[in-house]
Amino acid sequence: MRVFRTSILAASALFALAVHAVDNGLAITPQMGWDNWNAFGCSVSEDLLLQTASLIVDYGLKDLGYHYVILDDCWSVGRNASANNSLVADPEKFPNGMAAVADHLHSLGLGFGMYSDAGKYTCGMYAGSLGYETVDAQTWADWGVDYLKYDNCYNEGYAGNQQLSSARTMGDALNATGRPILYSLCNWGEDYPWNWGSTVANSWRISGDVYDNWDTYDARCPCDGPDAWNCELPGFHCSITNIMNKASFIVSKAQPGAWNDLDMLEVGNGAMTDAEYVAHFSMWAVAKSPLIMGNDIRSIAPKDLSILSNAAVIAINQDPSGSSAARRWMYETNDDSNGKAALQMWSGSLKSTTGGDYSDMVVLLVNGANAPTVMNASLADIFIDSGPSGTAKQVKMSWEVYDLWANRMSDDEASAIISSSSATGNATTGYNATTVGAGRYNATRTSYAEGLAQNSSLLLGNLTTTVQPSGTIVATVDPHGAALFRIRALPTAVRKRDEL
Ligand SMILES: *[C@@H]1O[C@H](CO)[C@@H](O)[C@H](O)[C@H]1NC(C)=O
Ligand SMILES: *[C@@H]1O[C@H](CO)[C@@H](O)[C@H](O)[C@H]1NC(C)=O
Ligand SMILES: *[C@@H]1O[C@H](CO)[C@@H](O)[C@H](O)[C@H]1NC(C)=O
Ligand SMILES: *[C@@H]1O[C@H](CO)[C@@H](O)[C@H](O)[C@H]1NC(C)=O
Ligand SMILES: *[C@@H]1O[C@H](CO)[C@@H](O)[C@H](O)[C@H]1NC(C)=O
Ligand SMILES: *[C@@H]1O[C@H](CO)[C@@H](O)[C@H](O)[C@H]1NC(C)=O
Ligand SMILES: *[C@@H]1O[C@H](CO)[C@@H](O)[C@H](O)[C@H]1NC(C)=O
Ligand SMILES: *[C@@H]1O[C@H](CO)[C@@H](O)[C@H](O)[C@H]1NC(C)=O
Ligand SMILES: *[C@@H]1O[C@H](CO)[C@@H](O)[C@H](O)[C@H]1NC(C)=O
Repeated sequence: MRVFRTSILAASALFALAVHAVDNGLAITPQMGWDNWNAFGCSVSEDLLLQTASLIVDYGLKDLGYHYVILDDCWSVGRNASANNSLVADPEKFPNGMAAVADHLHSLGLGFGMYSDAGKYTCGMYAGSLGYETVDAQTWADWGVDYLKYDNCYNEGYAGNQQLSSARTMGDALNATGRPILYSLCNWGEDYPWNWGSTVANSWRISGDVYDNWDTYDARCPCDGPDAWNCELPGFHCSITNIMNKASFIVSKAQPGAWNDLDMLEVGNGAMTDAEYVAHFSMWAVAKSPLIMGNDIRSIAPKDLSILSNAAVIAINQDPSGSSAARRWMYETNDDSNGKAALQMWSGSLKSTTGGDYSDMVVLLVNGANAPTVMNASLADIFIDSGPSGTAKQVKMSWEVYDLWANRMSDDEASAIISSSSATGNATTGYNATTVGAGRYNATRTSYAEGLAQNSSLLLGNLTTTVQPSGTIVATVDPHGAALFRIRALPTAVRKRDEL
């Protein structure tokens, strides 16, 4: 008993220290938002950002926590020698200038994200920030920017070891502006940013660029497979399972204010199945990756809106204890090659919602095989960090099992939201934005931390079963799909514990 209490105290002391990783007070839970790159690449404009922003509000995505609207590469026309060499926004793409975009986003209650690069050029060959860190940071602060995604192309050799990569000065330049700007490092996992990223930034990419694909091997993203953590060439065209394998080795590096970034979401970009998007979103959520939507919100399909809107899953990502789940096991299957068709189980601790001393846990089962598979997660495996081989106290308790995908919004409801986004509503369906919002979780009104503390049923999921002591959760999982559960200590078990 004593030992258990002590470890809880140690964990909360760590939490208190970790909150201020870069001391800007941002990303205390993983950042959420939208970035144009995955769906639009270089086709950026004020219209795209503002149309998207207004739909993020109308569809209730803002009120689920998607806060930052992030402009990616290809927005400038270079520097102005008569104005301290500051960057100039492309006047055709951004006719009213960047400050106007920031103002508009702020008026909607959203944050404005900006893109630059730690090299001479951006990846799209626009002007980079190398040597201009101070003036660029000040320009963005003057415009009202709230977030910087900082890429790594053309860095002229300021990389190759951890010292060089971590010594770059953009973090200091952002800090010196006095404006809190979330710093999202995008050096693709080069030079092990999980070892030093938390000292300069709020998040760091762990791999080459994701693409809209579940598990296809692509030579441009080498190091595919279960042992591929020490990857010298990050590449691009990285599949979902490739990135998840890479994440599995470094989960302990995620902490409040400083997160492993698995890259922007591909949900809704059209090349994966619904099951694959469900698994992708579930995995990013439990690994505490930033959740940055990467699809065209203007043409979002109901099924994709319902994935991105699952508050019970987002609540795992935004859990106040800020600790990543870890992969407990992986089995390869017959239709496997190179670990891609593996079955895997992840679990991790969450803040308790029962008021007892025992953390809730998240349990994720991923089926990489091409057929539906009956999968299992034993309490002994789920709680292996609290005692090996089933010796953890929690293994001897009973646990309620809540299915976090059971209450996924129906296609009809998602269609209604999409068709009633205008203020006038939709006479055919009888819905308008207000009525549709009624039954949904609203994190603007009630933060995830508060909602969990109040046992909000929209966050807890659907109570499906109870696991008995030393028992096993069993689920049939779709091909390339996932099952995701929150488990909570039964109140009786908590009382028993107090009597000990
Ligand atoms: C700058 O860094 C200092 C020291 O780490 C910190 O106290 C402060 O909040 C930071 N300011 C901003 C705007 O990030
Ligand atoms: C460059 O800066 C000067 C001085 O502030 C300003 O008058 C001019 O309009 C700027 N040019 C562009 C293209 O922004
Ligand atoms: C250039 O920078 C200096 C010092 O930061 C500032 O006082 C001045 O207003 C800037 N000039 C322009 C044109 O932005
Ligand atoms: C939430 O539910 C748990 C388990 O039923 C209970 O112990 C706890 O008191 C509830 N909390 C609130 C605020 O209702
Ligand atoms: C759990 O699943 C694995 C992989 O399919 C299998 O090897 C194992 O026997 C199962 N265990 C139980 C208790 O069902
Ligand atoms: C109203 O909803 C229906 C059914 O979803 C849809 O077909 C129609 O386009 C919508 N009308 C407007 C004006 O949005
Ligand atoms: C939406 O519909 C409800 C119920 O019919 C109505 O009370 C409300 O005024 C409507 N809101 C808007 C913005 O149309
Ligand atoms: C969420 O709550 C906020 C604050 O109460 C409110 O302004 C907003 O309209 C709500 N959003 C939805 C989709 O109902
Ligand atoms: C919720 O769980 C109950 C069993 O506790 C089950 O009967 C019901 O079908 C579930 N609901 C959904 C939507 O899966």
